[in-house]
Amino acid sequence: MRILAIETSCDETAAAVVEDDCRVLSNVIVSQMRVHSVYSGVVPELASRCHIEYMLPVVREALEVAFGGEVRSAGFSLSSHEKVRSAGFSPSPGGEVRSAGLSPSPGGEIRSAGLSLSSPGENRAKASTRIENRYGIEAIAVTRGPGLIGSLLVGVETAKTLAWTWNLPLIPVHHTMGHLLSVFCELPEGQSRILEIPPEGQPASAQWETIPAASPIRPIGPICPIGLTSPTAPTRPTAAFDYPYLGLVISGGHSSLVRVDSPLRMRLLGSTLDDAPGEAYDKVAKCLGLGYPGGPVVDRLAAEGDSEAFALPRPLLHTREYDFSFSGLKTAVVRAIQDFGGLARLRESETALKDLCASFQAAVIDVLLKKTERALKRERLRRLVVAGGVACNRGLRAEAARRLQSVHLVFPPPVLCTDNAAMIGAAAQYLPPLPRSEALALDARAGWELP
Ligand code: KG4
Ligand code: ZN
Repeated sequence: MRILAIETSCDETAAAVVEDDCRVLSNVIVSQMRVHSVYSGVVPELASRCHIEYMLPVVREALEVAFGGEVRSAGFSLSSHEKVRSAGFSPSPGGEVRSAGLSPSPGGEIRSAGLSLSSPGENRAKASTRIENRYGIEAIAVTRGPGLIGSLLVGVETAKTLAWTWNLPLIPVHHTMGHLLSVFCELPEGQSRILEIPPEGQPASAQWETIPAASPIRPIGPICPIGLTSPTAPTRPTAAFDYPYLGLVISGGHSSLVRVDSPLRMRLLGSTLDDAPGEAYDKVAKCLGLGYPGGPVVDRLAAEGDSEAFALPRPLLHTREYDFSFSGLKTAVVRAIQDFGGLARLRESETALKDLCASFQAAVIDVLLKKTERALKRERLRRLVVAGGVACNRGLRAEAARRLQSVHLVFPPPVLCTDNAAMIGAAAQYLPPLPRSEALALDARAGWELP
């Protein structure tokens, strides 16, 4: 089935076209990373506004990448979206938090941003934002949750509108299920595009970049060392991957260990009791003055540090079977900085900074992998998928490959590890659409449990 999928659970606005056998025709992402980096973390209100601005441009780009340039020739452009984001909201502590002037009703700034979903033939004046289903799309899939509610709502309402306008079935997808099934995506080279939104006040770019080196990955085999060296390095296809398997989904918003028997039979074994690992990376990076997102920079510094230089705890390693806890580790890092004589002193010594990153990363990896090994053993599983933004971590990839040599281990390519809509389209291939009578009533679920 040819599915148009939408993902807006956090701070990526993403759309993809996915066909039978999870073949990805397009995988398009607008990243808000630079918008939020100013605040060292995701600001939910800004995230929702960015989703509103970029939702339709992303859908249009996904159609264009999948089916060629005809979509753009319909007169679409990336202009006219500034109004929504700059509608008077400023999350900075010293800034002016005014009444945003953002109206969810069909008027106000949203309308003035020029976004509309009119059906063909209607409203010619707004042709620049109309998206037509001329490409044989057979269903619309959308992330229903879990995630930030304001962000989810943009995707869910857009998906409902498209399904209604095009008279197509609507398939709600659990975000974690998407990560777990991303392993089956076949993503040909050249089909992934990304656009980085600049921080507020800087001119918007309409430049989509192709994300390279997402080589065809189905069937997928064990990660090979080639895939460890660069976040864009291809994953080598070697052998088919199959059920049952263990999924470790680790990102800024979640960490879950899940037994996957089939797309429709998954069992949550454990999850984080407080911070997710990506959140811990981001908070530690903030304490160390390293910017946002923290994962990539801590990963880079850790590679050059001594992981035994600082003694940091391994929370819950021997208790709570498969649950994780990372907030104590972050506190231990804060204490280590204080014991060293403060941040300024630590940063004067390049070695100490690298050593602290390496010690923190080693503790995270140790906990993640020990719990994973325990689950593999007790569940008698020999296949493992590691997905989510933290799965891009080079230290984790290397250590997992070293420790789990008897396991069929798969890390999807980084572009499918971080949030994307291709995985939502892939999961939707296995899920039933909503009955038509229920489609328009679909709600977003911030705290949706894995069904
Ligand atoms: O999956 P994702 O794009 O979004 C969600 O949080 O759902 O993951 C983003 C998270 C951030 O917390 C980021 O710091 C982390 O993934 N991350 C990493 C690395 N790259 C991204 N964490 C550790 N090492 C990395 N190389
Ligand atoms: Zn995610």
